Amino acid sequence: MLKRLRKKKRSKLLAFTLTSSLLLSGLTFDIASAQSQIPSTQQQNQTTTVQTTAPYLTDAASIDKVIQAMTLEEKAKFVVGVGMPGFGGMPPFEVTGAVGGTFGIPRLGIPELRFADGPAGLRIRPTRPGQTQNYYTTAFPIATSLASTWDTETVEAIGKAQGNEVKEYGVDMLLAPALNIHRNPLNGRNFEYYSEDPLIAGKMAAAMVNGVQSNGVGATIKHFVANNQETNRNSIDTVVSERALREIYLKGFEIAVKESHPWSVMSSYNKLNGTYTSQSADLLTTVLRKDWGYTGFVMTDWFGGDNPVEQMKAQNDMIMPGSAGQSDLIKVAVSSGKIEEKVLDRNIKNILQIVIQTPEFKKYQNSDKPDLAAHAQTARKAAAEGMVLLKNDNMPLPISKDKKITLFGNTQIETVKGGTGSGDVNAAYTISIADGLKSAGYQLNQTVFQEYKTYIDTLRSQDQYKIKPSPWGEDFGKSIPAIPEKPLADNEIAAASKETDIGVIVIGRNSGEGVDRKVEKGDYLLSDAEQDMISKVSAQYHKQGKKVAVILNIGGPVEVAGWRDKVDSILLAWQPGQEAGYAVADVISGKVNPSGKLATTFPEKYSDVASANSFPGTPANNPTQVIYNEDIYVGYRYNTTFNVKPAYEFGYGLSYTDFDISHVNISEGKKFKDTLKVSAMVENTGELPGREVVQVYVSAPDGKLEKPSIELKAFGKTKELKAHQRELLQFDLNAKDLASFDEEKNAWVLEKGTYTIKVGASSDDIKGAATFTVDRDMIVEKVNDVLSPTVDFERLAK
Ligand code: BGC
Repeated sequence: MLKRLRKKKRSKLLAFTLTSSLLLSGLTFDIASAQSQIPSTQQQNQTTTVQTTAPYLTDAASIDKVIQAMTLEEKAKFVVGVGMPGFGGMPPFEVTGAVGGTFGIPRLGIPELRFADGPAGLRIRPTRPGQTQNYYTTAFPIATSLASTWDTETVEAIGKAQGNEVKEYGVDMLLAPALNIHRNPLNGRNFEYYSEDPLIAGKMAAAMVNGVQSNGVGATIKHFVANNQETNRNSIDTVVSERALREIYLKGFEIAVKESHPWSVMSSYNKLNGTYTSQSADLLTTVLRKDWGYTGFVMTDWFGGDNPVEQMKAQNDMIMPGSAGQSDLIKVAVSSGKIEEKVLDRNIKNILQIVIQTPEFKKYQNSDKPDLAAHAQTARKAAAEGMVLLKNDNMPLPISKDKKITLFGNTQIETVKGGTGSGDVNAAYTISIADGLKSAGYQLNQTVFQEYKTYIDTLRSQDQYKIKPSPWGEDFGKSIPAIPEKPLADNEIAAASKETDIGVIVIGRNSGEGVDRKVEKGDYLLSDAEQDMISKVSAQYHKQGKKVAVILNIGGPVEVAGWRDKVDSILLAWQPGQEAGYAVADVISGKVNPSGKLATTFPEKYSDVASANSFPGTPANNPTQVIYNEDIYVGYRYNTTFNVKPAYEFGYGLSYTDFDISHVNISEGKKFKDTLKVSAMVENTGELPGREVVQVYVSAPDGKLEKPSIELKAFGKTKELKAHQRELLQFDLNAKDLASFDEEKNAWVLEKGTYTIKVGASSDDIKGAATFTVDRDMIVEKVNDVLSPTVDFERLAK
């Protein structure tokens, strides 16, 4: 049912002028900003008045004096980045491939900082002119895969390794992790994001930040906030209720800010309820700093927003990548009294407090030699941990090493390590699934393998399929045009089904920044050739009494309901990073027992997605506004509340062993005071060692506020349990964890009534429950009244 949202108050609608923009393979950059990065002759000739007894930046105590000593011109330059290499004729940084840098003021001891992208690995250029040394970095599993581990320790280890590469390659801050919500499976950048659930997103991001920052380099959580699509991302106005914002879209950021103190937050490209996020004081000052107590600095996304002065006022401290034109505007605004100088001083202080923690400030001598071999092992382990076994009827997996395998599908050779765009990684190699299985000792059908190899080599030599540097430049990895699936002749499959013990089909997808995915064959839907391959291979192997497994090497859900019954096993390998093939072999062979669980729902059909009708906005041909009508009912919150059965539900994933979850208990009795301890016993009831994820959901009573059927409130993962071994897991929940957001009260409230804690192995597989009561409505936390929508719209309600 859709209910009308009565807007609370109509704040003045700002009028926006759209600047002409340059479309770069789906990526929009603002021409005006790009051009104005070239310093004018006048600026180049300007001289700075140098104080003779200038103070020096030494520590936190020196910051105020340093700011006092800065000239207005220096201030206006310092809050704006130094530009993006490759734009406006700007040459590369010394760390080639770094995408941003800050303005240094040597006379005051302020160094220049360098920023480079993540999140699946540090993205820098692997080669530098005139040098023989390589600068490859590790391509770790994509965020969606990491979230599927449900294991914050694994994610922290990835952060630690990634942060070490940041430090050793001479970068100060990583532009990652990214934690936007999987509102809709078609978002081209979902691979960079963790989950449809804010608790998972927040906990994973916090673990990543803690890992990265343990190296003494900074992490940046992005894109703040409600940037959940690529279509018209630079101009789209996201319209969303305050409750959905606080409970779904802001929640993960709130967790990450409070639990990991990221050095920086990157505001997003989009508008939020009418205002660019980078120009919203409500978001960047009131919510981020006043409500949450954030003390780092905020930077824009690259070329984001349209008004540097508003950005300064909002406390978007630094404008990236920055142009001389923006500094000029800020300087003039101060001189003409449009903005007080103390606004700049405040923003500069936010940045300098971070500057004094950077490797550059501490004069760290980077080695350019991170331990890539060790990091590859960390990546491989995480990749295997994140794989989700979706189906395994009668246990075709694991496959013993004496079995002969025929691999089908182009992706066995062209295995996808991760997505494209700024989140791509220039790794030295990607281990293909074919190579991974071979090196694990499997005998692969060589005839079929050779046919695939020849087919791929032939197509790749043709112009239209040639692998080239990304259209955004070499730093952004490679552009790999999709090639059609190799057609399979009936006799080829028949022969293979006789000669080998099992058929393994690999299906691959890629997507990336700048473009959303489509509900089309070859993208969200399987292509005819893929459907054919699945049907024919299954039919022939089954005729021989043999099994067929599918490996999904994808960055986000694809349609599975239409074909899954034909095959015996499905292993969701995600895009597992550079060690892809090794990690797949670890799971296929049983060296690693799969323990990943979906952190994003696989819908039965696309139209079952709560946002299917509103994504990516209106008007359909060129959206300017996207209304989040589904409100708080994102992902499993929608499926479970409105009884929409998914293909594979949130939290789902099989193992080669069996687990029992029992003894679900609440320790503090039946009446809620201010905290709650939940415990559950996990027992490995099967024969193989393995790990189980325990998911703690809560069903809250409908009061003044209606509640989703269930919401994830805590999760944990056992250590590796041997057969029949048990482990007791405990979870602490407080009132805030259990509260809902009341827009009228501007508060997190715990409404009175009976609450049910449901502990399960997935959102549809609850193993035990316990109830407690809340006697009276409790105001758990008051927050500021900001960010309400400025238009009326329909909201989904029970
Ligand atoms: C992306 C950011 C990225 C930045 C710098 C933007 O296009 O949205 O995530 O950090 O570019 O490469």
